[in-house]
Amino acid sequence: MNHSYALFDQETQVFHLRNNEISYIIQIEEDGILNHLYFGKAIQHYHGNKHYPRRDRGFSGNVPGNSERAYSKDTLPQEYSSHGSMDYRLPASIIQRENGSNLHDLRYFDYRIESGKPELEGLPQSYVLDKEEATTLIIILKDRDQEIYLELSYTIYHERAVITRSVKAINKTSKRIVLEKIASMQMDLTNNGIYDEVISLPGAHLRERQINREKIHAGVQSFESRRGASSHHMNSFIALVNHDTNELKGPAIGIHLVYSGNHAFELEKDQIDQVRVLAGINDYNFSWELAPEEIFQTPEVILTYSDQGLNGMSGTLHHLLRERVVRGQHQFKERPILVNNWEATYFDFDSKKIEQIVDEAADLGIEMFVLDDGWFGHRDSDNSSLGDWFEYEGKLTNGLKGIADYVHGKGLQFGVWFEPEMISVDSKLYEEHPDYLMQEPDRTPSSSRDQHLLDMGRKKVRRNIEKQICAILDEVPIDYIKWDMNRSLSDIYSIDLPAKRQGETAHRHILGVYELMENLLARYPKILWEGCSGGGGRFDAGFLYYMPQSWPTDNTDAVERLKIQYGTSLAYPISSMTAHVSAVPNHQTGRITSLKTRGDVAMSGVFGYELDLTEMSDEEKVIVKKQVQQYQTIRPLVQFGEFYRLKSPFEGNLTAWMFVSEDKSEALVMMARTLASAQPVFHEVFLTGLEETVCYQDQTTGQEYYGDELMSLGINVPDFYGDFQTTLLHLKKV
Ligand code: GLA
Repeated sequence: MNHSYALFDQETQVFHLRNNEISYIIQIEEDGILNHLYFGKAIQHYHGNKHYPRRDRGFSGNVPGNSERAYSKDTLPQEYSSHGSMDYRLPASIIQRENGSNLHDLRYFDYRIESGKPELEGLPQSYVLDKEEATTLIIILKDRDQEIYLELSYTIYHERAVITRSVKAINKTSKRIVLEKIASMQMDLTNNGIYDEVISLPGAHLRERQINREKIHAGVQSFESRRGASSHHMNSFIALVNHDTNELKGPAIGIHLVYSGNHAFELEKDQIDQVRVLAGINDYNFSWELAPEEIFQTPEVILTYSDQGLNGMSGTLHHLLRERVVRGQHQFKERPILVNNWEATYFDFDSKKIEQIVDEAADLGIEMFVLDDGWFGHRDSDNSSLGDWFEYEGKLTNGLKGIADYVHGKGLQFGVWFEPEMISVDSKLYEEHPDYLMQEPDRTPSSSRDQHLLDMGRKKVRRNIEKQICAILDEVPIDYIKWDMNRSLSDIYSIDLPAKRQGETAHRHILGVYELMENLLARYPKILWEGCSGGGGRFDAGFLYYMPQSWPTDNTDAVERLKIQYGTSLAYPISSMTAHVSAVPNHQTGRITSLKTRGDVAMSGVFGYELDLTEMSDEEKVIVKKQVQQYQTIRPLVQFGEFYRLKSPFEGNLTAWMFVSEDKSEALVMMARTLASAQPVFHEVFLTGLEETVCYQDQTTGQEYYGDELMSLGINVPDFYGDFQTTLLHLKKV
């Protein structure tokens, strides 16, 4: 085993995880309190000489069993805090015992170092291909009085600036205990002026993952979801940065929670300007009972550090998510250009209409047709049939199989839409199993989009849905599935659980969803899965473990998409982000943009169309055909190249980003200007990530530039005319 990636120095009692890029340093302080020392740029040797200063502070009392007045948990930077013993900052864990006490006092107990990365059962996670790829340090903490153990797991990837963390709680007492809070990680930052701002990705349905950057201020800041899903409203990612950090320089720590349910990222700036950072399952409406000998595994957190600004941080995350979270046959495969019928027909379609769209798609070179909502039960609107995953008899003349055969006959792949976690009251499933609907019996549950949640924490509910989906997939040749989820959780109550375990319902629900997806993935490994939740309501690192791509938003307006795609790219790889050209006026905003603009923006993601191809003019079809061909040539670059943000739509009228191939022989730059001006100022964009001494040729004009010119002199943004203009610059090594 190569131990140089995780060291323990007996003398200084210091753990040091390190590779060529990063170091993470932890020290066992007096009385076994685990002290956070450092996370950042690699340090080859830490001599253990920098001790956290001590000072007697009023009202910050002392460590139980130690009356040293200058030693307090209230100020000491810790790796994982307990509740009580005079640490008044937000705790990482709260554990209730049978006597009603929720006090505990975690102290160092033991450690072990393992090659590779242990698997997290039943949860999404990052993985390794072999044991040489990573080293895991497990530090065991124990309550000072009780046989309650917490195993803090730290995996360092040898060749990536990434550490993953998670926690296991183990009850070795003879009584039941209840976890009321159990964060996946804590990191206490000293007041060194480095991380004084936090970036989060808040939003809404149709306005997901907007970049929000704010000062870390005194008191508590929290970024969380209580909706049962990672949510449109606050993504499960934050970054800690310096006020000077920009896209290209400065320190940045990125933190992903690999989880799709309620999450919380909590920051607390304390009395002496130190910042505690916590991330994990939201303790809102959460509790988990552990019988003697039972274990609870928290979701995983992915931590990255970069001194190359936000692009550096994003690059590491893009690689990790793409290469070590996404799985399956489509992981590195170029994704097909699809046409989806949702915005073309909504629920109103028949075989003839679908076949006409497919005919057009085939002529235009589109590679896949996706039949969206409305093919099952008796679904003609959004108020029925969820849970009835059998064909809508008569809606499609030769049934789903007939459409699949037709699509395949035209040389396209075929995909369909499912929303497996839901139930409509107007459904056969509800008629037969009203108890499958998640609610407190005899209390009227809230509906949303006229639909309700299935209690996926219950095995028989999952089995019922799984059986129905398998019946379709065994009968109809399907290449792709869009897995939707169109409401937030409410009426959180499970009839399978006793009164005092109701706090487990929401987490059990998402674990059930994970299990269902895992079963289907294993049974149908050839299918390409796309996540969706009213667009981007569950665009998170956890979902990527099951589905390599997701619909980032129901908003297909090219202008609003600039911000959504820009914000999403902060934390997620481009190969995970689908983007479709839709009709104008845009259905969500009413805005009219050119087909070129819509195409250029959508081509910066996993490309497709979502409009009625049969309604397009001949001129438009010529453009679409060219777009399809153009995307085919740039697809590997876009989906698997390095991505760099250059100009932020959150900061002005201009947006620019670029893709560079791994060998730097090719690049694609997208520039967009939102509003026109009669007296425009000239703008320049400085490219990045190129080879300085390589000569690149613009594939449209033939113009040549060296990499250093493009990066140092920059290029002029075209003198666009009119609103909502875009351009793509495709460069290739001469
Ligand atoms: C959600 C999705 C859409 C579409 C509809 C169908 O809103 O995000 O793309 O599939 O459901 O009902």
